[in-house]
Amino acid sequence: STSRQAWAEEVRRLAEERDAVILAHNYQRPEIQDVAHHTGDSLALSRLAAQVEARTIVFCGVHFMAETAKILAPEKTVLLPDPNAGCSLADTITAEDVRAWKAEHPGAVVVAYVNTTAAVKAETDICCTSSNAADVIRSIPEDREILFLPDQFLGAHVKRVTGRENIHVWMGECHVHAGIDGHTLRERVDSEPDAEVYVHPECGCATSALYLVGSGAVPQERVKVLSTGGMLDAAERTDAAKVLIATETGMLHQLRNANGTTQFEAVNDRAECHYMKMIDPEKLLNSLRNGTTEITVDADVSERARRSVERMVSIGS
Ligand code: 13P
Ligand code: SF4
Repeated sequence: STSRQAWAEEVRRLAEERDAVILAHNYQRPEIQDVAHHTGDSLALSRLAAQVEARTIVFCGVHFMAETAKILAPEKTVLLPDPNAGCSLADTITAEDVRAWKAEHPGAVVVAYVNTTAAVKAETDICCTSSNAADVIRSIPEDREILFLPDQFLGAHVKRVTGRENIHVWMGECHVHAGIDGHTLRERVDSEPDAEVYVHPECGCATSALYLVGSGAVPQERVKVLSTGGMLDAAERTDAAKVLIATETGMLHQLRNANGTTQFEAVNDRAECHYMKMIDPEKLLNSLRNGTTEITVDADVSERARRSVERMVSIGS
C-alpha cells in the first residue's frame, strides 16, 4: 500500500541521514525484513555487524543480538528499537550459574550458544550459533571436557553429530522451539508423506526428526536439521513441491521470497516469538528518529566476551 511504501521510504531516508545500517533477523515481521539493508541468521548478522562501514547499526532482532553486535563493533552506536525484546532461552542462565557450573568442572571448555547475555558470554571460551555449533565443538581437542549452554536440544544435537561423549549440556530451552514437539512433527510428516522437512536444532522435535530417519520411518534425504540461514540456502536449491518448516514462523517470509514454486508450511503455525515481533514499523521509525534505544555493554564484560564471540565468527562457513 502507499502508506507502507511511504513508511519504507522514510525509514531508508532516516537511515541514510543517520549513517545507519538496518540489520534484521529472519524471524522479524515481513515489513521489517523487507526494509532492512540485510537479513540473515545470527551468525551472518554478527559477521555483518563486525564489518559494516556505517556509524550506527539498527538491530531488528532481540537484545542478545544487539549486545553481540556492540561487542564486535564497540566503536559503533547500536540501537535496538525495543529494549524489551528479550529471549526466553537467554533467560535460562546467569553469569553466576556459569561460574558455579565451571567450579564443578575445572578445566572444561565452555561453549555458549549466542543466545546468552553479554555477562554470560564473558564467562565462556567460545560462542557458537546453530549454523556453526558442530564446527565449534570439532575445533576443541577431543580429550577436553566441554560444558555446552544453554540450549538442551541444540546441545543434544551437537553431541549426536560430533559423537563426543564428554559434553555436559545445560537444560535450557526456547519456549517457541520447545513447543514444536515430536508429536506435532510426527503428525505433520505422516499427513504429508512427500514433503521435505527442515528442522531448527533448537526444536523439541529435533531428536524425533532424527529418530524418524534412524528408524527408517522417513527417508534420510527428506529431513534436514538447519539454522535459519541454512534453511534459506536449502530452499534456494530444492525442487520439492512442499517443505514443512519447524522453526519460528517469521522464517516463512524469506523462504517464500527465495523460492516461489515450492510451498513452505509451518510444522506448528503457532510457533511465534513475541520478542522478535516487538520490533514493529513504528518502533523502527522512532528508533531512527530519536536514536532509541542505545545498547551498551560494560567495558570489562565486553572485553572478556569479545574473545569468545570473535572465535565464533571465525569458525564455520
Ligand atoms: P539462527 O537464525 O542463528 O538459526 O537462530 C535462531 C534463533 O532462535 C535466534 O533467536
Ligand atoms: Fe529467543 Fe526463542 Fe525468541 Fe529465538 S525464538 S529469540 S531463541 S525466545
